Amino acid sequence: MGDMPAQSGESAHLQDGGSGARHVAIIMDGNGRWAKKRGLPRSVGHQRGVEAVRRLVRGLGPLNLDCLTLYAFSSENWKRSEDEVDDLMNLMRKFIKSDLPEFVANDVELRIIGDWQSLAPDIVAMLEDALAQTANGTKKLAVALNYGAQHEIARAAAKAAANGEITAEAIEAQLDTSDLPPLDLLIRTSGEIRLSNFLLWQAAYAEMLFVDTLWPDFKPEHLAQALDDFARRERRYGGR
Ligand code: FPP
Repeated sequence: MGDMPAQSGESAHLQDGGSGARHVAIIMDGNGRWAKKRGLPRSVGHQRGVEAVRRLVRGLGPLNLDCLTLYAFSSENWKRSEDEVDDLMNLMRKFIKSDLPEFVANDVELRIIGDWQSLAPDIVAMLEDALAQTANGTKKLAVALNYGAQHEIARAAAKAAANGEITAEAIEAQLDTSDLPPLDLLIRTSGEIRLSNFLLWQAAYAEMLFVDTLWPDFKPEHLAQALDDFARRERRYGGR
């Protein structure tokens, strides 16, 4: 683990045209601490967090990824104060409204994982519209909303059982991520070293990277650097 100062100049994988990673997921942590360090309300940290998301999606172009998955709201985040939950939901509304045209223009296909259908009806309607407008994009942006991996696995297992087949393959086929590429790299920002109920099944053979950078400070250069790190790792999937 270490802080990742944004590098100047192109990183190795940008020069050689690809890290080999197709699917990266990020636990975007540290908005609150970013704000606290500056004596600002947590809501400002979340606003800056959204700006970091926007910056990253805009910077995806040269990174050769097929899918970026972001943990935006966990099923445990409801435990936060009502004000903070409201802030996060309002940021979501604003983000979809302001950035949807850009997704469409840039060929970004939005995906949502988690129990998003139980969010507020206006958000569900906005998301349904956004999914329809971005269907068939070439780069997938999967946003985890009201997401908890244990619940996702339980739901998938129940569906597999209903089909009469409880095997790893049958369960995997029912996960929210079933039509996304296999997860290659899972990144968590802010120095915390845990998965917080994110993509537990999908992380079985993913590489992991924990960085000290707080989410609002995270830039496309940090992702490029993470991909360089990934490109140097040797993946054995249990073999030798
Ligand atoms: C963790 O910071 C972050 C979250 C709980 C939510 C992440 C949300 C965003 C980046 C904004 C919304 C995203 C979209 C796509 C609109 P924290 O509050 O846990 O920080 P702390 O651990 O420092 O308190």
